[in-house]
Parts: sequence; structure tokens; C-alpha cells
Amino acid sequence: MIIKNKKNNVGTDKKLASQIEKILKKLTLEEKISMIHAAGLFRTGAVERLDIPSLKCSDGPMGVRCEFHNERWIPIGNHDDLVTYLPSNSALASSWNEELAYQSGKVLGEEARGRGKDVILAPGINIKRDPLCGRNFEYMSEDPKLTATLAVPFIKGVQENDVAACVKHFACNVQETDRLMVDTIVDERTLYEIYLPAFRAAVQEGGSYSLMGAYNKINGTHCCENKRLLDSILRKEWGYDGTVISDWGAIHKTKEAAAVTIDVEMSVFPDFDDYKFANPLKEAIEKGEVPISVVDGKVRNILRMMFRLKMIGKYKNMRKTGTYNAPAHREIVLKTAEESMILLKNDNNKLPLDKKKVKKIAVIGRNAVKIHSDGGGSAEIKALYEISPLMGIKTYLGGNVDIIYAPGYYVPEDPKTFEHNWQEKSLDELEGTDIGMAVRKEETPDDIEATKKEEMKLKEEQEKERELVHEKNRKLLAEAAAAAKEADEVIFVGGLNHNFDSEGIDRQNMELPYEQDLLIEELLRVRKDMIITFIGGSPVEMPWRGKAETILWSYYAGMETGNALAKIIFGEVNPSGKLAETFPAKYEDCATARNGQSGIPGKITLSEGLYYGYRYFDRERIAPAFCFGHGLSYTNFVYSNLVMKQEKEGNKIVKISFNVKNTGKRAGAEVAQVYIAPISPKVGRPVKELKAYQKINLQPGKTGKITLTLIAKDFAYFDVDLHDFIADAGDYEILVGSSCQDIRLKGLCTLS
Ligand code: BGC
Repeated sequence: MIIKNKKNNVGTDKKLASQIEKILKKLTLEEKISMIHAAGLFRTGAVERLDIPSLKCSDGPMGVRCEFHNERWIPIGNHDDLVTYLPSNSALASSWNEELAYQSGKVLGEEARGRGKDVILAPGINIKRDPLCGRNFEYMSEDPKLTATLAVPFIKGVQENDVAACVKHFACNVQETDRLMVDTIVDERTLYEIYLPAFRAAVQEGGSYSLMGAYNKINGTHCCENKRLLDSILRKEWGYDGTVISDWGAIHKTKEAAAVTIDVEMSVFPDFDDYKFANPLKEAIEKGEVPISVVDGKVRNILRMMFRLKMIGKYKNMRKTGTYNAPAHREIVLKTAEESMILLKNDNNKLPLDKKKVKKIAVIGRNAVKIHSDGGGSAEIKALYEISPLMGIKTYLGGNVDIIYAPGYYVPEDPKTFEHNWQEKSLDELEGTDIGMAVRKEETPDDIEATKKEEMKLKEEQEKERELVHEKNRKLLAEAAAAAKEADEVIFVGGLNHNFDSEGIDRQNMELPYEQDLLIEELLRVRKDMIITFIGGSPVEMPWRGKAETILWSYYAGMETGNALAKIIFGEVNPSGKLAETFPAKYEDCATARNGQSGIPGKITLSEGLYYGYRYFDRERIAPAFCFGHGLSYTNFVYSNLVMKQEKEGNKIVKISFNVKNTGKRAGAEVAQVYIAPISPKVGRPVKELKAYQKINLQPGKTGKITLTLIAKDFAYFDVDLHDFIADAGDYEILVGSSCQDIRLKGLCTLS
């Protein structure tokens, strides 16, 4: 992989520091204050007198968001802010391809710069702890290693364009319900082993110029006021000298936030002068309650980033210009979409279909025509275009094939209104209050009675609505079944949409919405060989999966989704995506269903510790529907010849190599995964954990050799007493496989 680790030509740290000090000396208190808080919904204040521009931010991560009015959450409505719609982070992660992560970051960075932005609020790298978390589609994986290894090249790709990545949301932002106030209770070891490693890699290896402090609390303190998280861990332990930006409205208390090393306050309201880091902080400084040194520290971090981005200083004229909607960007998007789709099941080698043999196809399901780019919350994109699956299939097959489309199930219209943007609304209840101090109102008996009545009324209305929808669905089902009977092939395209995968809400269960299970069961009765495809951002239950021959899963895969899907269905592309998260058979099987399900306000205790996702399914020996790392191909791969070499010195470095052979008739790519399983650990440890992987492309009949290096840290756990990672002496099994359950090679290595 070519990741240029270019040195940023802003001079040595010493020179840079002295340049920063020079500017700092010239700045007045008012000017410093203007730099550390918003002067627009997506920008900070500028200091024109000294040629310091405002910092322009934009969401992320699936593309550069449309332009909003400076003070209102209403899109300007330009026609010049349409952009490339990139695959979501969950799609990207399913490619298990670091080079594509780098290329995707490069596209995003170039588009952000092309749109004149300085900071792109991406990537989202929170760990997918519970399948119900509404923002999981924006995140990469349940696994810290996979997340870290993809985040690093992504960030480098972004920043090559003189745009800052802003990794978010630091940290433990595991649910959307009550997202501003929820307190995540997490123990030290879990924090260090699961929730921090990707952020650490993002700042230390990826060199992310900025990072976003999350809304939630950790162990009682809001992330943006959390001394331990920001000062001790991020700055001291990790040595971070970048800019920390608050999530929009995540700062609550002036003095507490001023005292920690968070640098920029952003929020959702237009009363910029009243932000905590605006007049309230200025007054506190003037009264001597807060030392000016805290503001200086923040300004230093901002200036350092501005130099790095060539926003100021003598290299200003060399700043990259970027561009957006370049044809080359769409090629990366297509390639990523192709590599992200996961063939979950393919009994009887039903797929791929032979384009020449089909004359009549029935395409069933609302996701065949649904546009997803404009939803999901702050990740919404004003896409230049989005190829739906139906359009992809139609353009792929051309005019000689008869394609009938049947919706199959009813999806209520969701008219988008920009009258009152959801983002502003999501924090509305807090307007005029001290955000963090917003106390939940005490309820009187009358209030309780009124709420009960309202709930009853709502229930009745919902019941009526359900009956109506059911009626509609029966009609649509009959039409779909008739279409399915007549066609040579039936392709179902269902799944989720951003009414479920969305910022600000968590899913209530893992069921497919809109009575899709009923429809699928019925259609499978008519057409046992129906090809079932899904678009969605998080796992769903598939109770009928035993009866289905073929299941193909796609996350929100960007503007080329339909083209990629068609190429896979008709075999022009051999699928190579692998699950970056466990697909449980039913939600009740998850560790989080027992305790700490997303969606409960107030407090969420991560009492499962390290044991969620595959770490839990492994320990409890529960079979998921589809395990972490799973994904089929149209060809077969045979693994052989595992060789392990331990470096003499300290016995703490292990080089492993093995062969993978493509024994089938098609070219294809395999993601070989390496897990480490401690044999008799001194402390409780997951049965095995992913520590390395590599994707390899192989022509039919060809063998490739994979060589990977494991270091001491890969064998380590976090020792709370020592406050460090330690790799105990002892035996470790090295497991090499095609998924976390399909282990093909095993070896033993002993650390001394
Ligand atoms: C989201 C962030 C986003 C920010 C700006 C917040 O509500 O949590 O992810 O970057 O808004 O739109």
C-alpha cells in the first residue's frame, strides 16, 4: 500500500512553536475568545487584523455536507454543493481493505478542500457494541483492531489534502437515546482494550489534526469536561497536540470545560456570543476566576493546526486546492462499494446469475428504488446522484430483459422539510437553559395521568395505523408474489433505511421493519430460489434464513450502490466483503440484551466488559446467524503452510506466513484473518481476538503467500494496576482463518 507519510512542511516543532508564540502575543483577549468558539453553525471566528481565518468545518463521513445558512439549520439551497456520496464507514470497513480506506479518505479530503473546508468531521470510529445503536452505520466495526487499522489510512488520505480529519466521537458514545446526558459507565480495562485503541491509533499513527469530544458522560463526567479523558489520557499519555473540538452542544459548564484541554466550542444555536467559551469565559477571565493561560493553550492548539493545514504562515500559497465530483472519485466509490458487499449465503451456487440466460426478472422491495444519501442525521449527503439497485440492474442488463418492479411492502412517505431541521430540534429542549444543567422536570400526579392518557391515545392510533399498513401490505404482497411466479429470476431488495439507522435514535429491536419477514416467507414459498439482497446499516434478524438459498448484504454503499450490486449479482465482480460485526440470530443472544441495551435513558453500564460481539458469542458458545469476519466468494480459497518465526530478542515478535490458494475457476479476493488465543491466561481474556489480516487478490489456480508480523502488544491485555499493556509469558494459539469461526490453520507460539 502506498501511504505517503509526508512530513508537513511547516518547519520543525521548535520553529513552529516560536511562530505560534509570536501570534499569541499579538492577540487580544477578545480575539482569542473569538477563535475558540463558533461564529456560525460550522465555523469559528476569524481575526482579520492578523490574517487568521475562521476554521470552516463540515460533516462527514459519507461526503461533504451541503451548505447551511450561517445561523440557521436550513440548507442554502445552492446547486453547487452536490458532492460525491461515499460508502458509509460500515461499508468501507466490510471491505477490510486498508488501501481503499486510504483512497476513500483521499476522496473525502479532496472534496472537503474543494468545497473550501478546513476540517471534515470524520471518520466516526466508535465501537459497535450493541447492534441497536442508531449511528452504527457511521462507525466501522465491533473490533478495535479492525477499526484502528482502517481509520489510520483514512485519516492520512484526508489530511494529504491540507484538510484536517476530525475523528469522532471521543469516547464511549455507544448509544443515541438521551445522547446529551447519558452516562456511560465503563471499567478501566474495557476502556483501554476496547473503546480507546482506535482513537489512540487515529492520533498517534494517523496523526489526526483534530478530534471531536463526544456528547455523553463517562463515569459521571461529560466527555468535553473530562480531565481524565482529555488531559490525562489524550494529552499526557498519548502526547496529542492537535485540536479538540466539542460535539455540537457538548460543552455544558464554562469553568469546567475551560479547565480541560478542549479547544473549540461548537453548538447548534445562533446565540454565539453566549456560548460557554464566548462571553461567559471572557467574563470569568476578567474576574480572575479562570487564568488566561487556559485560553492561550487552546489558541496554541488551533494555531498549530492552522499552520499544519497551511491556513496561515509562509506556506499559505502552497495549500492544496482540492476539487469535488471528480470522475476519479466515483471510481474509488464504485470499487469500495464492490468490495464492501457481503455474500452471506449462496447455497447451490445460485449466484452469480448468467446475464445471457435471463429474459424476465422480478425486482421486489422498496430498497430497490429508495434513495438513502439524504438521510441518517449529520451524515446526510446532497449527492450528485445515487444509483438505486433497480437502476443498477436495469442499466446493467439493457433493453432486452423484461424487468418488473414490485414494491412488496409499504413504506410511509417521509417528506423532508427544512422548516425546522432535526439537528436543531434534537437539542431544542435545551435552548435557553444551561445545556448540561438541564434538569429533568419533576412530574406531578397530574402530569403522570396526562402522560398515561397520551400514551394510550398514541397506542390506539398506532394500532389503527398498523392495521391500515397491514392491509396495504397484503395487496402489495399479492402483487409481488404474482410477479415472482412469472419471472425467470427474482431479486428481493429490502432491509433498513435512515428512519432506523439514524443519529439521535436507537432501534427498538433487530427485526426487519414493514412486515418484510412475512413477505420474504411468502415469497420463498413461491420462489425458493429467490435472491435476497439487503441494504441497511446494522444487523437484522433473519428468522427465515434456513430456507433462503442466497443472501447478499450491502451497507449504505454510496452513489454507485446499484451498479456495484448489479455487477456482483451477474458475476462481473466476485464479492469479497466480510462482516466487520457479528450478525446475531436474534437480539436476545447479544450480551447487551442482558444488560445495557442501547435505548435506555440516563445511564448505560458496560457491564459486559470485553465480552460483546464475537468476544461474547465465542465465550458463551452461541452460534450467530453470521459471524464476525464471514463473507463468501464465488471461488474457493485453500489455506496451507503456516510458518511462525519468533524473533530471538525478547521472544516478543512473531513473524507468521502462510499460503492461500484460489482453487476455483474465478479470480477473487480473500481476507485472511489472524486471531490470537491465549491458552492459559492469568486474567480473564476473550477466547480469541483479531490481531492482523490481509486481503489478497488471486487469479484462478494461483497461490499467494501472506506474511504478517505480530508484536508484543498483540498478545497483551491492559493491566489496571500497572496501568499498562502487558504480554504475559506463556502459550498462545495463532489461528488463521476465513472468518472468526472458520479457522483453517493453527499454530502455537510461546512467549517467554
Ligand atoms: C453530531 C456530530 C456532527 C455535528 C455537526 C452532532 O449532532 O453528533 O457527529 O459532526 O452534529 O453536524
